[in-house]
Amino acid sequence: MNNAVEAQGLVKRYGSTTALGGIDLEVPTGTVIGVLGPNGAGKTTAVRILTTLTDPDEGHATVAGFDVGTHGHEVRRRIGLAAQDATVDPLLTGRENLVMLGELHQLRRRDAVARAAELLDAFSLGDAADRRTSGYSGGMRRRLDLAATLVGRPEVLFLDEPTTGLDPRGRSELWTVIDTLVGTGTTVMLTTQYLEEAERLADDIILIDHGRIIARGDARKLKRQVGGDQVSVVVVEPAHLAEATRIIASITGSEPNVDAGARSVTAPTTLGVETLVLAAKEFTEAQIAVDDMSLRQPTLDEVFLTLTGSTADDAEESK
Ligand SMILES: Nc1ncnc2c1ncn2[C@@H]1O[C@H](COP(=O)(O)OP(=O)(O)O)[C@@H](O)[C@H]1O
Ligand SMILES: [Mg+2]
Repeated sequence: MNNAVEAQGLVKRYGSTTALGGIDLEVPTGTVIGVLGPNGAGKTTAVRILTTLTDPDEGHATVAGFDVGTHGHEVRRRIGLAAQDATVDPLLTGRENLVMLGELHQLRRRDAVARAAELLDAFSLGDAADRRTSGYSGGMRRRLDLAATLVGRPEVLFLDEPTTGLDPRGRSELWTVIDTLVGTGTTVMLTTQYLEEAERLADDIILIDHGRIIARGDARKLKRQVGGDQVSVVVVEPAHLAEATRIIASITGSEPNVDAGARSVTAPTTLGVETLVLAAKEFTEAQIAVDDMSLRQPTLDEVFLTLTGSTADDAEESK
């Protein structure tokens, strides 16, 4: 089987809301796909259809080689799902949660205990294993959630926003765990609102907005589409904003975004570090004092603005 997930023309409506407006997917076995999109884009809806929790209104999909509509039972035996809301029982310890799940997966008690110990260890939960999960930190609970999805050794794993709500440290710990998991050859579909997360973890990224795929490719390709990096300059004197805007526009050849409150001018640039060299020179010559000057990768918001902005009329028409 070449594709662990295949979907054609998935449509899902809730009343007058079109949660999914026709999604096609192909996820090669053993790869990680990142489904990237803002709140309300349709990420959870897609995951719910592929994990047989809800039926599409149109289209069809196979997961691990089985049709989600007609062979839900076969699909469910082969997948793991870490839903957006934690699913572990707060009154049980981490170990009790995993052993219970193992027994639900028809493991014998002894095997369930061994599997639990192995997973607790792999997810750095050994020390907390015998404490109730109600006392776990957010990051620990997410790690236990992930461990729980692996009890049944799934072929395809669905992670719905696994790091949303975590602090940077918790997020980076979880990334390490997901890396390990990916190394085992499991196919993973991961949804996220963070471009950085998709870039770090996914082989391929699908960008969705309003239930439609608006771009796909690896992170480099997506960023190229938005024109590389973003240069940002903060001036000391608000009176210098207009001149600063003119300078940045002339260097980058693109139209800057001005934030008067933050005294900042931001614009996409394809010149890399050269942008900063040129800007420093021109600001010095114009005797404009600068508080901060930086070059960074675009945020998801900026990717969206660029990708949806250019096709706003088409998107409007197809509604
Ligand atoms: N059970 C539901 N009933 C009504 N509307 C829903 C339901 N589930 C999702 N939606 C709507 O469908 C759209 C997509 O939601 P969702 O798939 O949860 O997005 P995401 O996970 O990307 O934030 C949103 O507009 C949401 O309000
Ligand atoms: Mg969601």
